[in-house]
Amino acid sequence: MSEWISLNGRLTPAAEASVSPLDRGFLYGDGVFETLRTYGGRPFRLTSHLDRLRSSARRLAIPWPEPRLSIDAEIGRTLEAARNAESAIRIMLTRGVGPIGYDPSGIAFPTLVVHVRPCPEPPPSARHEGVDVAIVSVMRTPAAALDPAIKSSNLLNNILAWQEAHRLRVYEPILLNTAGQIAEGASSNLFVVQEGRLFTPPEQAGILQGITRATVLDLARGDGAVVEERALEPDELRRADEAFLTSTLKGVLPIRRCDGWPIHDGRPGPITRRLMELYDAAAQAETKTGSSPGASFR
Ligand code: PDD
Repeated sequence: MSEWISLNGRLTPAAEASVSPLDRGFLYGDGVFETLRTYGGRPFRLTSHLDRLRSSARRLAIPWPEPRLSIDAEIGRTLEAARNAESAIRIMLTRGVGPIGYDPSGIAFPTLVVHVRPCPEPPPSARHEGVDVAIVSVMRTPAAALDPAIKSSNLLNNILAWQEAHRLRVYEPILLNTAGQIAEGASSNLFVVQEGRLFTPPEQAGILQGITRATVLDLARGDGAVVEERALEPDELRRADEAFLTSTLKGVLPIRRCDGWPIHDGRPGPITRRLMELYDAAAQAETKTGSSPGASFR
């Protein structure tokens, strides 16, 4: 079990890698990132994550590091060095090193980091019993300020929400948008079930368009569920029949309580359990075959 880093193509144990204090990622949070995980040692939904990274970089006009460096190849090399049973992979791309000031001219090339560590799994109790969430007072940044659709390294909004959740002793904070509707968790998207129908806030609610969210939407539709992306009021979460979070590292996690109130009877409901099963099966199926996008990594 080990932690390795490729920094601009230089592979070392994580503890030996260092980035300049004049890197714009350090100075300003001027970077973008992705979190992936492996199943059976192979990255799941690699293409979607790389597409989203490219789109985040383009929105911030951060130069793309390819073909100087191949992100695919760096992921492969770093995974191979780490030799974990399952890994979490964090790709970080910043605008690069200095000079101080917002003007990016004079920066030679972007900084690319691929970090691999043993994959943290949610505690089994989180999957079996569900997790507690709270709607926090910190609001999600509006798209007109810093669009949550950009997966930027500037995460203070999420950190402030997490601090509030920590004080409230809940697992995940839920952020509202400036219209007072549900946006997303600090590191997850959110779904509710009402009378057998599945709802999740749309892109316009100001969310990161999660790759797990998209996978779950596809799986639910493929399974014949009635699914709608629409604005959700906070009370619709508190009064839901079922609710769950989605993210790469959490997978599908049932919500047990919101603001101290149990969701329905406080136990994971049938639609949540069904989607957890379908999601696990999809992750296994995609990464098992030699034709999967991450297949070259094992
Ligand atoms: N977090 N919303 C936010 C604000 C997130 O940070 C994340 C992911 C998600 C879920 O996206 P996805 O399903 O693509 O992982 C939604 C990652 C895991 C992280 O914090 O590293």
